Amino acid sequence: MSRKPKQPKKENNGASMNRRRFIGTLAAAAGTSALAGAAPFAPTASAETVHFTSNPPGLGGAGPFRSECDIHDCDVEGEIPSNIDGAFYRVGPDWQYPPMAGNIPFDGEGHVSMFRISNGHVDFKSRYPRTQRFKAQAAARKRLFGMYRNHFTDDPSVAKLSRGTANTHIAYYNQKLLAFKEDSPPVMMDPITLETVDDYYTFGGGMKSLTHSAHPKFDHGTGEIISYGYEAKGFATDDIYVFSANAKGKVTWEAWVKAPYVGMIHDFAVSKDYVAFLAIPMATNVERMKQGQVHFAWDSSLPTWFGVMRRGGDGKDLKWFKGPERCATHVMGAFSDGNKMYVDMDMALKNQFPFFPNLHGEPYDPKAASGYLHRLSVDLSKKDVTDYNMEKLYPQSGALPRQDDRYQTIPYRIGFMPTSNPTKPLSPKLGNVAFRPTNSYTKFDHANRTTTEFWIGDDSSLQECCFVPRSKDAAEGDGYLVGVANRLLEGGRADLIIVDTQYMEGQPIAKVRLPFRSYSQVHGWWVPGDTLPKA
Ligand SMILES: [Fe+2]
Repeated sequence: MSRKPKQPKKENNGASMNRRRFIGTLAAAAGTSALAGAAPFAPTASAETVHFTSNPPGLGGAGPFRSECDIHDCDVEGEIPSNIDGAFYRVGPDWQYPPMAGNIPFDGEGHVSMFRISNGHVDFKSRYPRTQRFKAQAAARKRLFGMYRNHFTDDPSVAKLSRGTANTHIAYYNQKLLAFKEDSPPVMMDPITLETVDDYYTFGGGMKSLTHSAHPKFDHGTGEIISYGYEAKGFATDDIYVFSANAKGKVTWEAWVKAPYVGMIHDFAVSKDYVAFLAIPMATNVERMKQGQVHFAWDSSLPTWFGVMRRGGDGKDLKWFKGPERCATHVMGAFSDGNKMYVDMDMALKNQFPFFPNLHGEPYDPKAASGYLHRLSVDLSKKDVTDYNMEKLYPQSGALPRQDDRYQTIPYRIGFMPTSNPTKPLSPKLGNVAFRPTNSYTKFDHANRTTTEFWIGDDSSLQECCFVPRSKDAAEGDGYLVGVANRLLEGGRADLIIVDTQYMEGQPIAKVRLPFRSYSQVHGWWVPGDTLPKA
């Protein structure tokens, strides 16, 4: 049974406005006004005073930020080269209202921020995407949605609304930002003002899936976006919808395929000729959801399945190759060579998410949860092969790998990943820290399997980085890394740091000092300035 809203037949068409969109529009007016302070002060009688009785779960230990900010001309330490011109966008969960007891960090409302860098100056802006969920809760002045991806725990009044939080990833497409949560269609935002343009973007009605991944890929040769949704026909369905759209928002290819079991397919891989999925044992568990739990539980009895299909085909050629129990979340890069498909992902032996329970009672094992970069491969010309190949590439442990995004879908050489260097000292000033901070960005050169490392120091923790090319035609991986560091001895205050990829072992060339600890991001995206609309 699905409570997902039905797909609108047309976008932005008042005559075809359905009830979901109508309610969303009403809530939009109320929600935006309430936040802006423009509406009469009229809290509903049923809404209790807002109070976070305890610090709710937050990524990296960050508490709710709940502040939409504009900083004109940020404090910059160092010198930002004039060839860095563009915007670094990031998104992460930031609780709008106190969460239901037992909920997890990934269910906070999406909060988007932008560092606009030009001529050595930086302006900062942050806004919540006005999701249907955010607007309804703002209008009601209380939480209406319950546990992570569990509609059984929602207030009945929101049954027709999208549950999407737009809190996971953000990308630039067709001169707009798309903010993603994998249980819903993306939310479209203006890249300059961060105002929400469309709270339920479906590529003009061309995208048939009820969900959309947080990890679309971009083919810089064709200008296409290639993406997918899992549980695509609604709650707990085993359907995957995969599609391409051209640079103007028109869906040009689609295919429906089946997953080997219903569970998380967080990222996927696209090469010039193939599309690949990795199904991991983070299984959708309907019975636990009916008991008020979160959407997933780790079922260690399940194998992983690596599915490969022809890009642009009808999906009937999809073949699933079997592998052992593994947890894997993100793709660094992928490419194909004839009949061979290669996908590089961070991969761990066991469940990497302590807040998604182990179904069979095993305790969370942080060592087995440590991720390492692996190369998965199959040779599709060998018809009798049933298992995929898996090779551990490097000894560094980390998560959230990235590449020079100009090389998405094609053979690539350079990748980057936040890592934890266990040989570096921990500052005694930190006291008894429960875990080693992510203190490095590692650059991987697959051509000769070498690494170089930027180490920020023993008193900071690094979030995901994005790569900025030094120029439009710069060599692969030649440029800068941008990412947010939390200063652990300053209450987690945030700096945007900029690192030259040719001098990874040196100091950041610049730090953009924010006067606060922001919410933690999940993912970010770099947009060159000459591709942004004029302000
Ligand atoms: Fe992700």
